[in-house]
Amino acid sequence: MTTAPVLEVRRYGHDDLPQIRQAILDIHADAYAELRDDPFVQRFPWFVDHWGGNPGFACVIAYDEDEAVGFAYGAPATPGREWWREHLDPAPERDRTFSFSEMAVRVGWRKIGAGKRLADALMEGRDEDLAVLLVDPDHPRVRALYESWGYRKVGDRRPFPDSPTYAVMLAELPLT
Ligand SMILES: CC(C)(COP(=O)(O)OP(=O)(O)OC[C@H]1O[C@@H](n2cnc3c(N)ncnc32)[C@H](O)[C@@H]1OP(=O)(O)O)[C@@H](O)C(=O)NCCC(=O)NCCS
Repeated sequence: MTTAPVLEVRRYGHDDLPQIRQAILDIHADAYAELRDDPFVQRFPWFVDHWGGNPGFACVIAYDEDEAVGFAYGAPATPGREWWREHLDPAPERDRTFSFSEMAVRVGWRKIGAGKRLADALMEGRDEDLAVLLVDPDHPRVRALYESWGYRKVGDRRPFPDSPTYAVMLAELPLT
């Protein structure tokens, strides 16, 4: 029997992007290896630079000793343009929103709670009222994971004409 690795989670911001960019790309390439030919997966470096370029960018990376094995990142949503906005009428009274953009864990470090550790660390100490994320409806187990953390589906969204249609999932912060 092997014991689960002890992961250390470190926090980063916009200024750290040059230092962490390659680690994020490497984790993503490992996590999406089976989909490496998918044009949307191939565009991931653009997304990292887009989100990382936001002054409010927040990122957490899990390390197994010196190896980066998972990440989660996001940024405060632009008021009025939150992913949930078109789906909720009336809008929630407290509506400051954190967009949880992306998360991935290397295949060899799955099923040990790394996703939850990363999601919790990303939200720790945030002062927004809500967290929103998009999930591919073809991945019902991932959606179930997010539901177990307190997110619920509020609608569907296709952020780009050539992207999948995602389920929009919303949670009130702090998550309990
Ligand atoms: C999502 C993720 C970070 C969660 O890691 P974790 O906390 O270790 O949890 P698991 O890997 O056990 O995933 C939870 C469930 O989702 C399933 N799942 C995870 N990624 C999946 C994917 N890309 N496609 C389909 N199912 C997936 C797992 O098989 C698991 O199902 P189970 O509960 O029936 O065993 C990790 O699975 C991952 O990196 N997946 C690939 C990237 C991804 O899908 N990111 C989320 C974008 S919304």
